[in-house]
Amino acid sequence: MKRTRYVRTALGVFVGVLVLLATSSGDRALAHKEKHTPDQLKAFEDVFMEQVKIGDLLFHGDGATEKRLGVTLSKTGMACAMCHPFGSDNHPYEFPKFQEQMNKFATLRDMINWCIEKPNEGVKIDPDSDAMKALETYIIWSNKGSKLDPGRH
Ligand code: HEC
Repeated sequence: MKRTRYVRTALGVFVGVLVLLATSSGDRALAHKEKHTPDQLKAFEDVFMEQVKIGDLLFHGDGATEKRLGVTLSKTGMACAMCHPFGSDNHPYEFPKFQEQMNKFATLRDMINWCIEKPNEGVKIDPDSDAMKALETYIIWSNKGSKLDPGRH
């Protein structure tokens, strides 16, 4: 009698595990079930490239874009691009890392704000702002294809 109960319990656990495995892999499959349509992909790309364009304008000191987004990235008349002629000079793939200028462990957004406040004497921006997202997008897009190398100096 005792042995049958043991076998039944073991069988129950085994079936339970099987069901769990089946449902969890089912969920995973579901997440990628539908392929994106060409229209969807085009829409995603458009949204992305729009951010790249806004970031490009900000990076090159476009006053109208700064005004529209309510930010003052520089008070010295210097745009990001004057010290960093190519967005790719910004090595975004090295972040996060310990940043000596700030004496702290910093993200790319921390570094962008450091440049706005220090060399540019501008007004630090909200890390979640549209301007920050666009600057980050432009800088990372400029480095498309680079290998991530966080922590590097
Ligand atoms: C007057 C010159 C100057 C201007 C203008 C300037 N920066 Fe910088 N930037 C620097 C210096 C100096 C560093 C530090 C370089 C280092 O750590 O090797 C730096 C570093 C950076 C880094 C990190 C690069 C790395 O490899 O660690 C980023 C990102 C960056 N700047 C973004 C910006 C952005 C965005 C702007 C415009 C809002 C801007 N910078 C404007 C001088 C400038």
